[in-house]
Amino acid sequence: MTGDKALALVTGANKGIGKETARQLARCGLAVLLGSRDPDRGRDAALDLAGDGVEVTPVQLDVTDMASVTTLEKRLRADHGRLDVLVNNAGVFVGASAAGTTAAHMRSVFETNVFGVVTLIHTLLPLLGQARAPRIVNVSSTTGSLALTAGGAGIPGDDSRRMAYCAAKAAVNMLTIHYAKAFAADPGLAHIKINSATPGYTATDMNDFQGTRTVAEAARVIVGLATLPDDGPSGGFFSDQGPVAW
Ligand SMILES: NC(=O)c1ccc[n+]([C@@H]2O[C@H](COP(=O)([O-])OP(=O)(O)OC[C@H]3O[C@@H](n4cnc5c(N)ncnc54)[C@H](OP(=O)(O)O)[C@@H]3O)[C@@H](O)[C@H]2O)c1
Repeated sequence: MTGDKALALVTGANKGIGKETARQLARCGLAVLLGSRDPDRGRDAALDLAGDGVEVTPVQLDVTDMASVTTLEKRLRADHGRLDVLVNNAGVFVGASAAGTTAAHMRSVFETNVFGVVTLIHTLLPLLGQARAPRIVNVSSTTGSLALTAGGAGIPGDDSRRMAYCAAKAAVNMLTIHYAKAFAADPGLAHIKINSATPGYTATDMNDFQGTRTVAEAARVIVGLATLPDDGPSGGFFSDQGPVAW
């Protein structure tokens, strides 16, 4: 039960940055649905958080499975009638050199990291519209910055095997811009804020824990954008240091 609490859904939250985002949002006083494609992993993550005194509700959610997304939408509609915060965090990394990258590599990364985001937003938009101050955070990456990549900015991590991943995050950033413009132009959706967040190079399974930031540091910008005040930005790309070049 959420009572008067704002209701947040974090996708891919059974581990890594998503799990930490769920923890921090719950500590901020939100009712948090911890999305996990594997129900057992979701339950274990929720139990682990409960051990730290953090209460969240695990929900089965595979962002590439329309039936899974629809089932959750129906449950949210019946139980709550709205959704206040959507954090599109679920993501995969497929490593391949640029020359060795196939369309199949691209498809598998885009399926989760891009099409999953569109599926969640498209399906949950009516419920988000019902909230007083809805916020959508698309978890992107500094590696998705066209400007920094073209400018040779030296983004941390191995850039020789991440073309598919970077292209997907650049696509997510474009989604953020288009949704923000569309929402702003629609009186029924103008109260929704949507932004891209980059957590920075963070030690998680995704990079065999080679990242240099902690999940606590990584989640900070996501939580900040998920709890923006009414005069906060929409249609931006942010790290915890401020705006990031597109
Ligand atoms: N770590 C970094 O340095 C870094 C930097 C920039 C951006 N990011 C972004 O941050 C987000 C979280 O990544 P992370 O570093 O925390 O990686 P992670 O530890 O590998 O976590 C990824 C999460 O996404 C879930 N997931 C994958 N496919 C899914 C699907 N189809 N449906 C639902 N959930 C799915 C995974 O579930 P399973 O456990 O079932 O696989 C897992 O919970 C990603 O979007 C990533 O691109 C990470």
